[in-house]
Amino acid sequence: MAKGKVVLMMITAALMMEGSRAISLCDMDDEGIEACRPSVTQPNPVDPTPECCEALKGANLTCLCSYKNSYWLPSLGIDPALAMGLPPKCKLDMPPDC
Ligand SMILES: *[C@@H]1O[C@H](CO)[C@@H](O)[C@H](O)[C@H]1NC(C)=O
Repeated sequence: MAKGKVVLMMITAALMMEGSRAISLCDMDDEGIEACRPSVTQPNPVDPTPECCEALKGANLTCLCSYKNSYWLPSLGIDPALAMGLPPKCKLDMPPDC
C-alpha cells in the first residue's frame, strides 16, 4: 500500500516536470508562442509582430485548427477565436476545412 503511494507520487512528479518543460504547440516553440501571445489574449489583442508571423509561418495550421474548440488554448491564456484569426493577419491562409 505504502509502496503504491510512493510510485504514484513519483509518477505525479514526473508529469509535473513534463508540464513545466518548454511548451510546443503545432510546431511552434515557446518562443513563437510568446511572440504571438499579446495578439491572442484578451483584452486588447495587438496586431501580430513580425516575429509572431515568422513563427506562425512554420506552424502547422491544420493542427492549430483542431484546437479551435478545445479548452487547452484558454488554459494557456489564449483566446481560440483570436488564435484562428491570427494567420490571415500574417497573410497566411488557414486550411480550407478549418
Ligand atoms: C499537421 O497537423 C495535422 C493534425 O495534427 C497532421 O495530421 C499533419 O500531419 C501535420 N502536418 C505536418 C506538415 O506536420
